[in-house]
Order: sequence, then structure tokens, then C-alpha cells
Amino acid sequence: MSTLPLFDNPAFEIAELRKQLNHHSYRYYALDNPEITDAEYDRLMQRLRELEEKNPLLITADSPTQRVGATPLPAFTTVVHELPMLSLDNAFSDEDLLAFNQRILDRLKINDDVEYACELKLDGIAVSLLYQDGLLVRGATRGDGTNGEDITLNVRTIKSIPLRLQGDGYPAVLEVRGEIYMPKAGFDSLNDKARAIGEKLFVNPRNAAAGSLRQLDPKVTASRPLEMCAYSVGWVDGGELPETHSGILTALKNWGFLTNRETQVAKNIQDAMGFYRRIGEKRDALAYDIDGIVFKVNSRELQEKLGFISRAPRWAIAYKFPAQEESTILLDVEFQVGRTGAVTPVARLQPVFVGGVTVSNATLHNRDEINRLNLKIGDTVIVRRAGDVIPQIVQVIESKRTVDARDIVFPNECPVCGSPVETVADEAVARCSGGLVCAAQRKEAIKHFASRKAMNIEGLGDKLVEQLVDSGLVNNLADIYSVTREQLASMDRMGEKSADNIILALEKSKATSLAKFIYALGIREVGEATARNFANYFGSFEALAEADQETLQQVPDVGPVVAHFVAEFFSQESNIAAVAALRNHGIYWENINVSSPEALPLSGLTYVLTGTLETLSRDDAKAKLLALGAKVAGSVSAKTDYVVAGPGAGSKLAKAEALGLKVMDETALVELLREHGQEL
Ligand code: IVH
Repeated sequence: MSTLPLFDNPAFEIAELRKQLNHHSYRYYALDNPEITDAEYDRLMQRLRELEEKNPLLITADSPTQRVGATPLPAFTTVVHELPMLSLDNAFSDEDLLAFNQRILDRLKINDDVEYACELKLDGIAVSLLYQDGLLVRGATRGDGTNGEDITLNVRTIKSIPLRLQGDGYPAVLEVRGEIYMPKAGFDSLNDKARAIGEKLFVNPRNAAAGSLRQLDPKVTASRPLEMCAYSVGWVDGGELPETHSGILTALKNWGFLTNRETQVAKNIQDAMGFYRRIGEKRDALAYDIDGIVFKVNSRELQEKLGFISRAPRWAIAYKFPAQEESTILLDVEFQVGRTGAVTPVARLQPVFVGGVTVSNATLHNRDEINRLNLKIGDTVIVRRAGDVIPQIVQVIESKRTVDARDIVFPNECPVCGSPVETVADEAVARCSGGLVCAAQRKEAIKHFASRKAMNIEGLGDKLVEQLVDSGLVNNLADIYSVTREQLASMDRMGEKSADNIILALEKSKATSLAKFIYALGIREVGEATARNFANYFGSFEALAEADQETLQQVPDVGPVVAHFVAEFFSQESNIAAVAALRNHGIYWENINVSSPEALPLSGLTYVLTGTLETLSRDDAKAKLLALGAKVAGSVSAKTDYVVAGPGAGSKLAKAEALGLKVMDETALVELLREHGQEL
């Protein structure tokens, strides 16, 4: 539906666009089952706006451009917003933004710079919270802008929403507006849990937030990792508000709301553009999804002079970032064999520009994922690429399926070595049973061994490893240290100089650390952080190799699954022989003195965690602090060295402040953990 025939007469194209937009808006709001991405929807809307602007006589009251949203679901009581909840106009380029600024200057008949409050456009659900005499009395969704849904019981479960306002000076009636969203880490763990029990996955953090909020049982909402960030006020009575938008945000913060810490005031539109670019660069690193930047004229007096058009204020605009979801066609599915033999289906896609890059492959995880998506070759699919995460197919648009769509057939034999593919009961993953007989598994094991975070053998890249294995020169890990300069130089795209460099890099890699060596072995489920924990706990390779499963589980972050794989690894003669062969080549490391308390960087320090953490879970933070030698206590006392306080921190923070203890926020904690080599 997104490609339009050429129209000579704008009335026909306008009618067609309206029909499509109404259809998609119904699918999105009422059925919760969209057929196109937000970006495609935005493009249709943008085109309709353009045509209507050029042909104002064709604008009708029922055009999708003339209304804010869609009808609410019937299950919740309706709330009539005292002041409509409007939407925002969009800008997609610097030119659009400059035109917005110019419209403001023209309307205000000034030539001066206009100051803008610059805020992140959080990708969640708009919410209205009504406070009477400081008490939260009502929470509502935006709905169609005039009528929303009453979600009071649900919003009361969200910890960053104050049930009673703090401080003083707030109006007797205060309606606070903001966005409820799900941080990325919470979204990932929610989907991981759903995947593990075979439940439907959420397509993106925004859908997860919407689904969590629209629960008739507030207990379900309470169990979901939701946050609310306040960004404006609506209805106000019996009190005065600051004169600037940034002043209002500061007041909201003082009254107990979470406001976004990236917010800044720009002295003119050029500075505002700089803000857009800076945030764009760190968009992927933020703990939550954003889809643009909102610029608001900071002076409320000027805001009032500028006023509104039917659906949006003239004093604000949303400058969008490249969309993270687009639709494309699944051309084929191929199967790759990984280091542990896992046979992973990989989607070959018609190339599509999404999340700022052209994507032509996406991971499909496993057979369950294909079944869950009900995916067939030839389908139109929605691809999501958020940050540096591997692109994913998140949805199939079944209404677009054609008759020649084909089933995806999972191979019974390894596509690389022909060994049988086995599926272990309770495991979604299918595995090639060939072990190191399988060239694919050998290649992956060597690539992992040589990788930067493992033995860091510079220059020994994927292509070279593939050639060395294919030519039969390298059959196991230790073989890479026997390869000669001449053999390296004879490989494709290799010269004598690069061969020399690799020989040097191989030599250099021999001086390593215990943690890196453990990680390099590629034991199943032993990532970098776990390897480091093993090294810190056991101090020597021998102690780790001899440990039984019970002892292994004493190590921070290690449960029965990891303990099982480690014990299994060391029970195999071939692995012991492989390690011995590597050590014979001269690989060495310093053992760690585990008996001396100063061995670990945070030994002797006690931490207390309180409030919400966004980047990592409380359990993760605890495990990582423990791995660095710190103690993590449940309550604050004079013996506490540091209190890590996230949003919503309450009595523990107050006590810490009363005792004059050192308080750090999550960013400082993350920095500390990174500084000491913990992977986040
Ligand atoms: S201001 C009259 N500020 O974007 C101004 N909106 O179409 C109304 N949004 O669904 C909104 N972050 O929920 C504003 N910092 C922010 C925002 C924001 C996200 C959402 C809002 C609405 C949409 C605007």
C-alpha cells in the first residue's frame, strides 16, 4: 500500500491517502496490529499534509490531518481531557527546522533569536496525571486527544510517578503530562522471559509499554519495568507556574517527577540543531528508545502569542531521527553453523534502509522464532534495527502474504559437514553433532580464540582463519601458533609484510591474562565477565579445571548451567590436551593471589543499591560489584562506603544523606564498573 500510482488530480491522491491513513490508524490504535511501520505512516501523512497545504479548499473536517489520534478501547472508563492532549508537527530535515523557526519569527514579527527548550522525544505512551491538592487522583491515556482511558490504578504502580507531590508551591489542581516508557534493558529481559516460556514477544519497547499499561489487572502492570518522564503541564488551577518551559520542568522535578536529564535550553535554532546532532550520536547508548528531539519555544508568553493550529502547537516541533523499523521482503533463509554447533537461520532480505544503515540480513535465532513469527519465504516483514544490535525480523504482515510464499525447511543435516542436526529436549537450538569435525565449528572456535577480547591476535581476521582451515593448515587452536610466515604469505590478499605482522601478533598474544585465556577457550555460556569472575575466584587455571560443580557455583553470577558446561569441558581429554598444546607454545599469564584481600579492586568497600537502575538490573549490578571484591549490603549504616541511588530512591538515600555518606548515581556506577573491566 505504500507505493502510490501517479495521480494527475490531487483530489484523487488525497482521497486515496485518507483511505490508507484511516485504515492504518485503525489497525494501529484499535487492533494493535499495524501493517506498516511508523515511518511509512509518517510519510503518507506528510504527503497528505503537503497536498492539503497546496490545495486548502480540499481540506475536510474528517481528514486524518485534522484529528489527533483514534478511539480508545472500550474496556477502560473514558476520561474527558479538560484541555485536549495535542500532538506535534514533525520535521525531517534541517530545512524543516529552519522553516519552523522562520514561521515563528514571522508570526511574532521579530528578528531576534528565539530560545528553545530541547527535549528528547521518548518513544512511549503519552499520559496525563491529575493531582488535586498534591494527591494523584487520576491517570489517563491520550486516546484521541479529547477522550482518553482511565488507567489510574495502573499508573499508581509505576514507581517514578509520585502518588503525592513533594515540596510546596504546586497549584491546587495540576495536570502533569509525560511519557511512560520501558527502558531497553527491561524490554530485553521481558522478551527473554517470554521467549523462554514460548509466549508472544513484544515488537519494540513502545509496544511493550503500551501493552503493559493497557492491562485490566494492575498487578501485571506493576510487574513490568515502566518509567514515566514528565515533560509538560496541562490543566492548572489555583496557583502560578514559572514563566519558561524549562522553569516548569525544574518545578516538576522538585515536585517529585522524573524529568529527562538530557534536557537543555538552546539560545537559538542553530544551537538547537547542535543538540539534535549531539543526541543523535549518542542515541544508541541511551538506556531507552527515542525517535527524535522536541523543540519548544521556552518563553510561555511567546507560546501563548503563537497559539495552536487544530492538532498541534505552533511553538513546538518534533525533529525525527531515522526510523528504526521498516518493512521489506524476506527473499530467502540460509543456515549458519556457529562455534557451539548451533544452526542459526539467517534471513536474506531485500535491502532496506533502517536505523541509519542498509540492512540485507537479519538473524532469526532458531526454529521456535520462525514458528512464533509464522514466517514464510516471500513474506513482507518488519525489520527493526535499534543501535548496534543485529537487525531482527519482529513481525510478519500476513495480510500481504502472496500465494507463492514458501515454508522454511529446517535442515536435518549440517549444511557444512553433513553430520546429523540434533535438537536437545527443552532447547530451542538445533545443533550440528559434528563437533570439531565440522569445519564451521572449528573456524568459529579459532575466530573466537583470536578475537580482540580473547587472545587479541591482530590481523588474524575471519577471512584468514577461513582460508587457513580450508587449506588444512590449521585444524585446532594450537595449530595457529605453528603456521609459518611463508604459509601465511601464500594466502589470498596476504603479502610478506602482513605475514610478518601476524607472526609478531601471535608472539605478542602469548603474554595474556588468566581471564582472557579462560574466555578464549570458548566454553559454552562462559562470556567475558564470567571468565573474569572465574579467574578472580580461583586465581589459577589448575584450580578452575579441578573444581567440581558445587564449587563452581560459589563464583558470583555462576549458576548450574554454566557450572555444568565448565565441568563438562574439563572432563574431556581432548580439551585438556588442547590446553596443554597451547601452553607448550609458550602461552602464559600471571596467577592471581586470591588469598590476599587487596587482590581485587573494590575489596573492603561496602555498597548499598537503592532506587531504579536503568542500564543494568539490581542483580547484575550486585554481581558485578561482588566480582570486583566489594560487599553489597541491604541497608545503610555507618559502615556503608557508597550508596548507589537511582530514580525513586527513598529512605535509604535519605539515611545516607543524614549520615553524610558518599552517594553516586547509576552513571557513576557504570563508569566505575567499566573502569575495572566489567562488561555492561
Ligand atoms: S510535547 C503540545 N514532549 O510525542 C505538546 N511530547 O506527537 C505535546 N513525546 O504522543 C507533546 N516525548 O507523548 C512532548 N519531550 C516530549 C515528548 C513528547 C515524547 C510524545 C508525546 C506525543 C508525541 C507528540
